[in-house]
Amino acid sequence: MGRNALIAGNWKLNLDHHEALHLIRDLGLRLNQLELSKVEVAVHPPFTDLRTVQTIVEGDKLPISLGAQHVSHHAKGAYTGEVSTTMLAKLKTQYVLVGHSERRALFGMDDQLVQQTAAAVIAEGMSAVICVGESAEEREAGEMTAVLERQTLAAVRGLPATAADAIVLAYEPVWAIGTGQAATAEDAQHAASFLRETLSSSLGKAAADSIRILYGGSVQPQNTEELLGGPDVDGVLVGGASLNGATFAEIVAAAVRCYG
Ligand code: 13P
Repeated sequence: MGRNALIAGNWKLNLDHHEALHLIRDLGLRLNQLELSKVEVAVHPPFTDLRTVQTIVEGDKLPISLGAQHVSHHAKGAYTGEVSTTMLAKLKTQYVLVGHSERRALFGMDDQLVQQTAAAVIAEGMSAVICVGESAEEREAGEMTAVLERQTLAAVRGLPATAADAIVLAYEPVWAIGTGQAATAEDAQHAASFLRETLSSSLGKAAADSIRILYGGSVQPQNTEELLGGPDVDGVLVGGASLNGATFAEIVAAAVRCYG
């Protein structure tokens, strides 16, 4: 399909801006030794680290794209504690995670808010990394595809096919996040293929074929190559293993082996 890989690190609520500086320098040195023409690397630090990471990435010309973990769907105004898409775009942020399961479960982000946030991110010229995934209970109840379909269709509702360039979908089964129990490569491919069909029903086949679909949940250097083996899996979204430069660079190296 000609889709390049995206290897994204979600730092979650970890690393202050000093720690971020060390990690990004270390990661940059390691990535500079890899051939990254078909593999893109992104990091999603906490808000307070973004300016530091941006400065180092630009100054040292590191092959790293900048991402955020969340953003407000409001443009500006009396919304204490929020950060806007304009503020992120000004820092040359390229990607924003939207609807991570932790935001959905712990901070009340529902499908409608996911849709509004994704639209705001795209309108500002950034890409939305829309996260979807079923819980263990939903999976056991046989509701996996219904949940994935509902979350995906809600997130892209109202978007034109031309927005495909600005959409990444991340399949992150909740039961695999932070548990050490990653999905199998077959499970990841099965879900990714279903998600692509779902995108196709809403945005059309050409758009769906161009959208990168990532897998996330207990990704490690050891399971990356296998997970990337599925034809519909175009990258990984990494939590814990992205907090160490050597480990995250090993995951990127595994993707380089797959994509050449
Ligand atoms: P872990 O890689 O720590 O399981 O986290 C996955 C995740 O939630 C990435 O967004």
